[in-house]
Amino acid sequence: MKRATTTLADDRQLKLGLFGANCSAGITMTMVPERWDASWEHNLALARLADARGLDFLLPIARWRGYGGLTDPNGYSLETLAWAAGLLAATRRITVFATVHAPLVHPVFAAKQLATIDHIGRGRLGLNIVCGWNPEEFAMFGGSHRAQADRYAHGREWYEIIRRLWAESEPFDYHGRYFDLQGAVCTPKPYAGSELITMNAGRSEAGRQFAVETVDCLFTGIENLDTADQVVADVRRRAAAVGRPIDVYSVAYVVCRPTQKEAEDYLHYYAVEHRDEASLEKFRTINPSEGDTNARLARWAAGHGGFPAVGDPDRVAEILARVHRAGYAGLALGFVNYLDELPYFCDEVMPRLERLGVRRSTTGADGEGDGGTHAMARY
Ligand SMILES: Cc1cc2nc3c(=O)[nH]c(=O)nc-3n(C[C@H](O)[C@H](O)[C@H](O)COP(=O)(O)O)c2cc1C
Repeated sequence: MKRATTTLADDRQLKLGLFGANCSAGITMTMVPERWDASWEHNLALARLADARGLDFLLPIARWRGYGGLTDPNGYSLETLAWAAGLLAATRRITVFATVHAPLVHPVFAAKQLATIDHIGRGRLGLNIVCGWNPEEFAMFGGSHRAQADRYAHGREWYEIIRRLWAESEPFDYHGRYFDLQGAVCTPKPYAGSELITMNAGRSEAGRQFAVETVDCLFTGIENLDTADQVVADVRRRAAAVGRPIDVYSVAYVVCRPTQKEAEDYLHYYAVEHRDEASLEKFRTINPSEGDTNARLARWAAGHGGFPAVGDPDRVAEILARVHRAGYAGLALGFVNYLDELPYFCDEVMPRLERLGVRRSTTGADGEGDGGTHAMARY
């Protein structure tokens, strides 16, 4: 039984979450002194704030080393399974994802770890599967980086084993291309015997295909708002061909200020004047396909390659509504300093989104994570 499955976006509200708060500098590569300090205390305060203010999910970045340069963005990062366990114990309704590198965590370990954390959250854990791209991280684990098709073939076996461990009560043998297991079994199962909400973060065609065949949500980039609907159309075509529903999510960096000019000035200040050029250069060398143009690099400096939601509250709400109208089910948001900036976003942008009809109020929602009322559940 699939729990609280999110479906195609049309008649539901736009889900909103926070992205990357477990990592130093969050989703930015900036040197400004107020950049995000990802201490546990800050993460705890932020999760409680997001929970109380009706946000739907928290999504961490799985990172094993930083981007170097002067400030080493993401160099300090809280490991996402432990992070999710702690935050689920401290919140009441919000969905918390763990982001797991399939090639770096054995599926028998992952199945049990995830099931255990899901019990801590009473059914509010989500799983974001990443198949990996960063060669330096693979080298840290003593392995080599597989070619893309191979990465996703491995990911399919990895998640198939996890699903079987969650579904089957008897020990089973598994003989695949990447895994050869004898007598595999997992108890406990996820909370209330239902499966976790799953997400895959990928950008390529191979990533899309893996997502439609495997998970509930594809988390992908938006290159251009004018063509954002085409990505959703392509994903839906692929999903229809394999007979599975899937939602599409994306990432935005938010700079919301009382006036458009203030917002644009702040963006310029943190992402242009004070961007960490040395870490961006490092990023460009390890990820040449993402760092191939100045425009793309600028978006990495500003917000992990996400798209800009920059402006006064009316403008930011209109941008988010536009993404929703293009068919996206949800957005993971980043801020330079999440704790400083989230309250203004909640006060000013969320009510506007309700007035625009793309989001229903979740104020007063008080599910305690029974698998049917949590924040990613179908409305
Ligand atoms: C929104 C988003 C979030 C991602 N989060 C992570 C992450 O936390 N850790 C990681 O190693 N890769 C992350 N990635 C990278 C992807 O897993 C993937 O390797 C990359 O987008 C390349 O896509 P492809 O495999 O489809 O070519 C993320 C990608 C996107 C689009």
